[in-house]
Amino acid sequence: MERRRLGAVVTAVFIAMQLLCACEKLGTETKEPVHVGLTCYNQSDTFLEQMIECFREELEELEHDATEVTITIRDACGSQRTQNDQVKELIDAGCNVLCVNLVDRADPSEIIDLAREADVPIIFFNREPVAEDLMQWDRLYYVGAHAEQSGMMQGALAADVIEADSRIDRNRDGKIQYVILEGEPGHQDAIIRTEDAVDTLINRGVMLEKLSCGIANWNRAQAQNRMMQMISEYQNRIELVLANNDDMALGAVDAYKKLNYTESALPVFFGIDGTDVGLQAVVDGELSATVYNDKEGQAQVMAKLADALVSGKGMDGIALERGRYVYVPYAKVTVENVGEFLRRQY
Ligand code: BGC
Ligand code: CA
Repeated sequence: MERRRLGAVVTAVFIAMQLLCACEKLGTETKEPVHVGLTCYNQSDTFLEQMIECFREELEELEHDATEVTITIRDACGSQRTQNDQVKELIDAGCNVLCVNLVDRADPSEIIDLAREADVPIIFFNREPVAEDLMQWDRLYYVGAHAEQSGMMQGALAADVIEADSRIDRNRDGKIQYVILEGEPGHQDAIIRTEDAVDTLINRGVMLEKLSCGIANWNRAQAQNRMMQMISEYQNRIELVLANNDDMALGAVDAYKKLNYTESALPVFFGIDGTDVGLQAVVDGELSATVYNDKEGQAQVMAKLADALVSGKGMDGIALERGRYVYVPYAKVTVENVGEFLRRQY
């Protein structure tokens, strides 16, 4: 009798355990794996390389939350046609969310059609499609930052430095002779950053004289070349260099180094991004200041959004503008606060 009762208890416990396991399994099954397919306009871009690294780290965090996460990364090497093919390949390989850094931000139609046919949502990032394209389908999103804000911050930083040091006006004519190093034509960050930086300086009452403007496509080596040409034309007349990103500001610094300019004959340099090399240049005093393009913040939003789009849960926790945009704020970086930003680096 005793033995029979014991047997019944053992059987009941066994059944309960089986049920528990089955429920647990069901629980994990409801969490769909996230397979991210990412393609980037050019992976040798300093900012994007670091931003994508942050994104990988954010996805690893997601994995700790018991979601299976994979990421496949493709480099379009500057060709929209290559990027279109990559999107097709990523969809065929089973990616259930796409992160696209367009080569040509005016030409996303083929990619949108491919994604829509397969019902795979797209998060565009850093290179903003025009609004009409983003409205083509309701599973399209954009994560980036407001170009105007970075331009205004760069102008304000330059005004602060110029007001605080009368030696910057080296020829003492009451005006600041300046040159611009501009990013790719057609990129939302290039012209807007330039215009807003210059307007902010003017509004702050700084008298300006523009000497020249060179396009260097975000690239350090190209910026060095453009700057060498400008120096040979204007010699030591240049007092201020405004660059649309840190890599181009550093290319300008490289040009002066190559020509062995002494410190007293150097202009002041301003960048945007706060890449590792950019922040270090602020620490070393080579750049007077930069503007932080918050790659950690952007990567975090992208990871959250990717997860929410796949699982269909958690969208409420993401602050979307007009239902599909997230703009992460920029921040001013000077030698006084650069330490805070260095600590954010992994
Ligand atoms: C960054 C640049 C980068 C470009 C690429 C910009 O937002 O400031 O450094 O080269 O995006 O699209
Ligand atoms: Ca002057």
